[in-house]
Amino acid sequence: RRVGVLISGRGSNLRALLEAEQDAYAIALVVSNRPDAPGLAIARAAGVPVHAPAPDGRGRAAWEAEADAALRAAGVELVALAGYMRILSPAFVAGWEGRMVNIHPSLLPLYKGLDTHARAIAAGDAEGGCSVHLVTAALDDGPVLAQARVPIHAGDTPETLAARVLVEEHRLYPRALAELARGL
Ligand code: GRF
Repeated sequence: RRVGVLISGRGSNLRALLEAEQDAYAIALVVSNRPDAPGLAIARAAGVPVHAPAPDGRGRAAWEAEADAALRAAGVELVALAGYMRILSPAFVAGWEGRMVNIHPSLLPLYKGLDTHARAIAAGDAEGGCSVHLVTAALDDGPVLAQARVPIHAGDTPETLAARVLVEEHRLYPRALAELARGL
C-alpha cells in the first residue's frame, strides 16, 4: 500500500516508518505544513518526494486542499500522521475515513492533546505509553489500533519519560501501519 506521511517537525517516527518499510507499505510522499521541518531532510535522504509549500497566508482550507491533491496524485492509499501538529479539518479527515492513522504519546483515552508525559507524571501513573489510532474529526479520539506501555519511574521527568516512550513509538508505529495496510 502507498502511504503518505504528514509531519511538522523532527521526523523520528517518519524515520522509523522508512526503516521498517516492507511488503505491506511503501512511503510515496511526505507532506509538511512547515517548509523548514527537520524531518524533510530524512525524507529527501531516503529519496522520497516531499510536498512542503511555503505558507502563503491562504489559510488552512486551501493548504489542505493542495495537500490532499498532492497525496492523491502520488497514489496514496493510507495517510500516517507522524508528529503533525496542526488540527485537520473535518472535510480533510472525512476524505480519508478509515485510512488515516496517528501516533499519540499516551495510553489513550488518557491525555489527549499536549503535554501528555507531564500529565501522566503529575497524576502519579505507574505506566505511560503510546497509541496508534484511526483519525476522526475529534482530536486524538478515534478507535485505538495498537498500544505500547512503559513503566514510569520515581524521579522521571517529562523528558526522560518521553525518551522511553519514543523508543516504543518507533517499534509500534511500523507494525500497526503494516497491519492496517494488509487489511485494506
Ligand atoms: C511523537 O512523540 C508523536 O507521538 C507525537 O509527536 C512526536 C513526534 O516526534 N505525535 P517525531 O517528529 O516523530 O520525532
